[in-house]
Amino acid sequence: MSKKHEQHSSQPVPVVADGMTLGVVGVGVMGQTLIRGLLSNRVVERERLWAGDKNSATCESASKELEIPVESDFQSRVPTADLILICVKPADAPMVLATLRNAGLRRETLLISILAGVATDRIESLLGTENPVVRAMPNTPAVVNEGMTVVCRGTYAAKSDLERASHIFEAVGKCLSIDEVHFNAITALSGSGPAYQFLIMEALADAGVRVGLPRQLALTLVAQTALGAARMVLATGRHPAALRDDVTTPAGCTIAGLLMLEDGKVRSVLARAVEEAAKVSAHLGVSPAKMSETAAGQRAGH
Ligand SMILES: NC(=O)c1ccc[n+]([C@@H]2O[C@H](COP(=O)([O-])OP(=O)(O)OC[C@H]3O[C@@H](n4cnc5c(N)ncnc54)[C@H](OP(=O)(O)O)[C@@H]3O)[C@@H](O)[C@H]2O)c1
Repeated sequence: MSKKHEQHSSQPVPVVADGMTLGVVGVGVMGQTLIRGLLSNRVVERERLWAGDKNSATCESASKELEIPVESDFQSRVPTADLILICVKPADAPMVLATLRNAGLRRETLLISILAGVATDRIESLLGTENPVVRAMPNTPAVVNEGMTVVCRGTYAAKSDLERASHIFEAVGKCLSIDEVHFNAITALSGSGPAYQFLIMEALADAGVRVGLPRQLALTLVAQTALGAARMVLATGRHPAALRDDVTTPAGCTIAGLLMLEDGKVRSVLARAVEEAAKVSAHLGVSPAKMSETAAGQRAGH
């Protein structure tokens, strides 16, 4: 029987089965953030959590900070894992997946990848096994439990695997399950999104300094205003244009400022930024051989 999208029971499935472990490979920014979320929200007990990283100095400091085993020689733990989160850079995916396979990865172990631009079918083909794979695109506000993560499942993953993954990312913010076809767009919008917001906030804080405010005060005003505006959009469900109209007094200062933003083409600049990021995202997980085929094709006019 084909295992493709096989359904399991409707009972909630534990994130990690009894007696088994959860591993995190790559303890950089995202890996550490997710581990902290898992621990503080008691998604998994500390004793059942382990991590691996390439660099032994990173392992030592992360292990001290997180109070879990973090080792460069993590292979012996792989067969005990019911779930492994892959949090390395996209270019390191082939090496890490080969390491997991050669370390005795069980066929049932769920692999959750947060690698930007690396599709589930690429992970499956690099792995060469029929393990369930879930792809996730989180973002850095997960550090303050306000992350936005989107998940989708690969060929051998069941709905229950998506639920297990959602449980993990809900520990650090919101999580939605969306078709993989949208992942490059999502990577460009919410994955890269915090960086756009930081740049906009930095520019507005500069603007505050330009009109005479001390920098720290300007930054506080800008950041709290961004937080409040975001909360209003989410809490009211109203269109941002309607919320904007509410604060735009006839002949007032807000409409004067808004018109300057429109003159500066702020809408199309933001749309082009996301469009460009989505194009780059589509190439992040492509193997070097395929990249050169694409480049050759482009040179040949395809
Ligand atoms: N940061 C974001 O905003 C964000 C958002 C969404 C998704 N992501 C995705 O999340 C992933 C991780 O991003 P990040 O910012 O956390 O990266 P990062 O800080 O560079 O962390 C990756 C860690 O993995 C380690 N590593 C590399 N090769 C390894 C191997 N073979 N075995 C074990 N560990 C290995 C790295 O060690 P070295 O530094 O020594 O190489 C590093 O400590 C990326 O794929 C990215 O696309 C990031």
